[in-house]
Amino acid sequence: MKFFLDTADLAEIEEAASWGALAGVTTNPSLYARIGGTFAGFPDHIRRICALVDGPVSAEAVGSTRDEIVREGRELAALAPNVVVKVPTMVEGLAATRVLANEGIRVNMTLCFSVPQALLAARSGARYVSPFVGRFDDISEDGIEQLSDIVEAIDAYDFSDVGVAGERIEVIAASIRSAQHVTQAALLGADIATVPFNVLRKCVEHPLTSNGLAAFKKDWEKVTNA
Ligand code: G3P
Repeated sequence: MKFFLDTADLAEIEEAASWGALAGVTTNPSLYARIGGTFAGFPDHIRRICALVDGPVSAEAVGSTRDEIVREGRELAALAPNVVVKVPTMVEGLAATRVLANEGIRVNMTLCFSVPQALLAARSGARYVSPFVGRFDDISEDGIEQLSDIVEAIDAYDFSDVGVAGERIEVIAASIRSAQHVTQAALLGADIATVPFNVLRKCVEHPLTSNGLAAFKKDWEKVTNA
């Protein structure tokens, strides 16, 4: 499973990229608003993220109609070769995804909450589909179970007749809130987990690693002082 960072914060992206295991970034309008982003500064901000990351960077189209989404998608895709256009799972989004995919533009279909939605995203040519885990948990439903069903359904079929030629659709476990979510997403076969920076850090850290490291250091001091 690959790790994407779910943020629009350049400092977090730069730091996580320096750790050597980052495969991509996902952003959304809320994440961009959280860092105080402006409308005018958005294209340049996406360009800067794309330059920091060796991998796909999702930038969301906010239009409501297929024509608006297609227009925005083309503009976003022109910002950098590694831009992926994030499109909401809805009728207009599906129609726009088909047009963009036919032009070779990669789409990450977002706000996906069901197997039928995921299958329709795949059939419309989406390069990625993003089931949201934590938001199911927020309404006292099991987000991991939903993710598992979606991974199973997508894996059961061949979508090579649609989408970007030679590339298969990948499932991004999104709205990840904990390292436990990451473990579960990996074990059920999600291709990617997109995680906030604090969760990525928790994925690296373990108390037994810290304790073990402290013990090794202490013992090494005994060796060097002997
Ligand atoms: O990638 C989608 C993600 O940003 C949503 O996460 O925590 O707002 O549900 P959250």
